Amino acid sequence: MLTSINHIGIAVKDLEASIEVFRKIFQFENIHREVVEEQGVSVGSFKVGDVLIELTQPTREDSPVGKFLEKKGEGIHHIGFNTDNIQGDLDRLKAEGVQLINEVPRPGAHDMQIAFLHPKSTNGVLTEICQHK
Ligand code: CO
Repeated sequence: MLTSINHIGIAVKDLEASIEVFRKIFQFENIHREVVEEQGVSVGSFKVGDVLIELTQPTREDSPVGKFLEKKGEGIHHIGFNTDNIQGDLDRLKAEGVQLINEVPRPGAHDMQIAFLHPKSTNGVLTEICQHK
């Protein structure tokens, strides 16, 4: 079951510059940095309440975020929702006719298992579900 918002992913061209922009807004002291090779991204994340904001710069142009930037430019890329049973939710959603990008979970940032639902099935909002290992 999807229980809460885990994070909001924002596609950026220049991670260091965007960290400074968001630092002015949210006044965070610490930022968590991580490269997720699997997704082709370099991530800087900070918390607003219980929700992570993930500033995401592609590490290669042909990564999903790289293609997104090329097509749509910078902005909100996806919303990540916590689930207590990622494979169960993927199976349920598939049975409901929701188009999945990942039918089995993949490794994501913050040591989570993640999977994406196709924006064609979600009114254009790229939706991620994620579960802590
Ligand atoms: Co994400």
